[in-house]
Amino acid sequence: MRVGLLTGGGDCPGLNAAIRAVVKHGIGEYGHSIIGFRNGWKGVADGDVLPLTRDDIRNVLPVGGTLLGTARYHPHEEDGGLDAVRATLEAERIEALICIGGDGTLHAASEVANSGTKIVGIPKTIDNDVWGTDLSIGFHTAVNIATEAIDRVHTTAESHNRVMVVEVMGRHAGWIALNAGIAGGAEIVLAPEEPFDIDKIVKFLKHRHRAHASFSIIVVAEGAIPAAGTSMSYEAPLGPFGSIVAGAIGERVAAEIGARTGFETRVTVLGHVQRGGAPTPTDRILGSRFGVAAMDAVSRGESGVMTALRGDEVVLIPLSDVAGKVKAVPAELLMVAHALA
Ligand code: F6P
Repeated sequence: MRVGLLTGGGDCPGLNAAIRAVVKHGIGEYGHSIIGFRNGWKGVADGDVLPLTRDDIRNVLPVGGTLLGTARYHPHEEDGGLDAVRATLEAERIEALICIGGDGTLHAASEVANSGTKIVGIPKTIDNDVWGTDLSIGFHTAVNIATEAIDRVHTTAESHNRVMVVEVMGRHAGWIALNAGIAGGAEIVLAPEEPFDIDKIVKFLKHRHRAHASFSIIVVAEGAIPAAGTSMSYEAPLGPFGSIVAGAIGERVAAEIGARTGFETRVTVLGHVQRGGAPTPTDRILGSRFGVAAMDAVSRGESGVMTALRGDEVVLIPLSDVAGKVKAVPAELLMVAHALA
């Protein structure tokens, strides 16, 4: 069988573990040919292929990024995109395609699957907001990086008696902010799921600094916004292709706190540091499990499904259930962050 493979959307640690598992299991167990496509769906539309052998996946487990390259390109949103994809899949005699991606890439996968191509998806995103799976590849590493950064910010905050604002990634969901914030002992965590009231934050900080502390850590997800009707008006600026402008909300929150409290305030924007470098063992294992499960699924002739972690088990769920949805953080996690303020 000729099985295609792509990684799309933002990169993250653990992608190479999934690629390795697909190639190793596909060749070793089933004798398939694995045809990689460079740079996500763009490579499929352009016919940019990279056939993968065992040699290509040697020593890639600890390496961040993706050996296939990636891009933010969605064929169903481009003129002639789906036709170009179909033409390449036909020319390369691809019988099934494994797509590793976040919401955008998996949405595209669902559209392509609807037109008859056999597709199995694998969820990845440091944001951990892909619906239907407890974990996505990359999240665990990002939380580790963000927690270490908060620990480091902590000691300098304390030395200088400052309020430190740490902005982490998370456009639509606050998974990194809440997990790293709780693990790093942040006083306040701001997540997109719970628009904030700057007056309450200021009141809390003034009380804390009067009563028992001289410093504070505030973790802000890049998609956090003030609640409607509160005293801070904010229109999130949009970057190229509608993306978030890194640092915008972090800088603004720090400026408001500085002006309203008089406390010395600094901002750290973690940005793409959270997406780089070696994956944690958890992400290597998750990528490996998803890769093996996806290869088993295509070999059984399954299509239109995505690998998902549910509890301790890897299962398959319909791709059409996933597309266009966001997995928000549960109220319990928000409550824990509040309880530990
Ligand atoms: O992939 C998710 C993500 O890391 C978001 O958290 C962030 O807003 C975005 O990607 C950044 O995208 P880019 O790498 O295209 O700037």
